[in-house]
Amino acid sequence: MTLTDDKRQKHLVREQFTRTAEVFGDFAVATRVGDAELLARMVGAKSADCAVDLASGPGTLALRFARHVRWICGLDLTPAILLRARRSAQTESLANLDFALGDAQALPFADGALDIAVTSYSLHHMPDPARVVGEMARVVKRGGRVGVIDIRASEDPQVAAMSNRIERLRDASHTRSLPKSEFEAIFAAHGLRILAQETREQDRAFRHWMLVAGWNPGDREFEETRRLLESTIGEDSAGFHPRIVPADPAEAGEARDIHIINTILFLAAEKV
Ligand SMILES: C[S@@+](CC[C@H](N)C(=O)[O-])C[C@H]1O[C@@H](n2cnc3c(N)ncnc32)[C@H](O)[C@@H]1O
Repeated sequence: MTLTDDKRQKHLVREQFTRTAEVFGDFAVATRVGDAELLARMVGAKSADCAVDLASGPGTLALRFARHVRWICGLDLTPAILLRARRSAQTESLANLDFALGDAQALPFADGALDIAVTSYSLHHMPDPARVVGEMARVVKRGGRVGVIDIRASEDPQVAAMSNRIERLRDASHTRSLPKSEFEAIFAAHGLRILAQETREQDRAFRHWMLVAGWNPGDREFEETRRLLESTIGEDSAGFHPRIVPADPAEAGEARDIHIINTILFLAAEKV
């Protein structure tokens, strides 16, 4: 990865999450409370712990972890989404939570400074996810915990490649979703012993999935993503299990929508 690639990727990330700071932020904070609470249990978050939530976005994990730990820092690359996160922390009167601008690939903490490092739905935006997990392992002390939630790709490289193509049409800042075996290999390579893992399937309505990425019917990104996704329906060649269903009657527009399944992996590990 060259410096230019890294700069370009950061530009794509900031563009995506500045444009969608509110619509994505509303969605993530409201619907991922269960994810955050599950990860807090999996990593054994407790009142003496100091933690970091990297690529924290609107504070999806940090706002929940703040209720369990002594202190947590939410770190993100996109100023607009940090503003939204700070607003939520203020509204919820959470005084043990700070948000900072920063890069998950180079965490601003000394080796072994923290008890817990967590991240959610972010590694598929990183050019080098192994480097980020390496940083998480570096900043926690021995016996500290690392927790990751992310979309899980198929173990079949062709299916994974097609799903990543669809994801990149939807969101240009998507780099690559990893299969479970790759997560496990990365954790092992950084001295992280897996304590617990869970897989959850999330049903997503295509129109809403596109809306939170900032696109509406008629937008080029919306139409191209739909066309490619539709081409996978017969053989499920992207592993999204797409199916046509009657649209939500509360929504204006077409009578039908596509529903997909996102497979989500939860991993909790201990630094040995
Ligand atoms: C899909 S959002 C996930 C946000 C939140 N963790 C959640 O679960 O809702 C991805 C976030 O990763 C951030 N991000 C991407 N690359 C990053 C990097 N290198 N360092 C820090 N944040 C990054 C983006 O700004 C965005 O807020």
